[in-house]
Amino acid sequence: MTTVPVSNPFVAGWDLHEVLGTLRRDSPVIEMAMPTGRTAWLVTRYEDAQRALSDPRLSKGISPAGGVEYRTLVSEDVERALTRHMLATDPPDHTRLRRLVAGPFAPRRVAAMRPWIERIAERLLDDIPGDAEIDLLDAYAAPLPIQVICEMLGVPPEDQSAFRGWVTAILAGPMNLADWPAAVRAMVTYIRDLLAVKRERPGDDMLSDLLAVRDEGDRLSDDELTSMVYLLLIAGHETTTNLIANGMLVLLSEPERWTRVVAAPELLPGIIEELLRYEGPVQSSTFRTAVEPVEIGGQVIPAGATVVVSLSSANRDGARFPDPDRLVLDRPVIPNLAFGHGIHYCLGAPLARLEGQVAFAALARRFPGMRLAVPPDQLVWRPSVLIRGLHALPVLPGGAG
Ligand code: HEM
Repeated sequence: MTTVPVSNPFVAGWDLHEVLGTLRRDSPVIEMAMPTGRTAWLVTRYEDAQRALSDPRLSKGISPAGGVEYRTLVSEDVERALTRHMLATDPPDHTRLRRLVAGPFAPRRVAAMRPWIERIAERLLDDIPGDAEIDLLDAYAAPLPIQVICEMLGVPPEDQSAFRGWVTAILAGPMNLADWPAAVRAMVTYIRDLLAVKRERPGDDMLSDLLAVRDEGDRLSDDELTSMVYLLLIAGHETTTNLIANGMLVLLSEPERWTRVVAAPELLPGIIEELLRYEGPVQSSTFRTAVEPVEIGGQVIPAGATVVVSLSSANRDGARFPDPDRLVLDRPVIPNLAFGHGIHYCLGAPLARLEGQVAFAALARRFPGMRLAVPPDQLVWRPSVLIRGLHALPVLPGGAG
């Protein structure tokens, strides 16, 4: 049993994949220090990860000891609005909450959204000058998914820019104490105000549909509704942003990869699976709490302990993926854990995949000569336990779109 927690590989500024590789080999289930001063158990091998993510003894409904006690940072009513969503609940609440929004995220409904996502992508690319360095993250990878999820939910365009700041601060985590409580409060207040407006004047959007569900029976409480909108807005942003940005970093860091995408965009669905595996946007699962002692990979995790599954590590486990540290654009697809596993498997996966396909295809069409503006090893990853994302992605678009 490890008694001294290892430093946290996600925030220490190390070469993440190298450290995770060492942990997979030597200490596949290990207690690590959290930025909060507490500890969490980190699971790094694929098989253990998959099993942990579908183990009902690892609860999402209990506030994790390794995390932050929200109520010490925000008022009780804001705390309730953060913790009543599907990713913070176990069945039966989880089942009820997920079912309420499953419809709009189902593959067939999502597929029908392709033309308007293409229009959003084209409009953003219209504003990119071909001859000057730009930050692709800021100009394209971030605004595209923000516009998509905000339009789906019914957030007016003029309010969308405020979201990016809030979401970035929120996802940096409560350890970012200076910004986190204010961002959370601002976002919850905004959602409540918007719900009041939609109740007065419903539109053709998910918020209005959810309000109708709320008002017609007892299937959704006020806190659950606010919390659901909070989750959907957050989950739909940064993740897809980093699929696009991390993906472009990987594709541009060896120019023949980008040439390949430009020449054969029809290969994108498979390429996106490989990008998700190789440098996925969510590096670890959200926290789970052991409700009883749970054995994972030969290690007994005590009741009450916090468990974090490293998706980035599982997806580079050589026991599942041959030659795992090599990017292989035409790798035969073996399902990976980038979208999680089990009952909390990402609800937005079909949407995220579609957004990725549209985003890369539009870029390849308009900017086939795109290049990185700085060497890849000069780019800086943001410190976050959850998210794998860059601060910025400077590129030279190369030719007018
Ligand atoms: C859950 C990844 C995009 C909505 C998750 C989980 C992962 C994930 C790993 C499970 C977390 C856990 O079990 O602790 C991703 C990635 C994305 C992405 C890699 C982009 C490439 C989206 C989008 C939406 C979304 C666009 C749409 C709003 C959700 C929701 C859950 C979830 C609602 C919770 C599901 C539940 O608890 O049943 N996502 N996500 N995600 N994701 Fe995504």
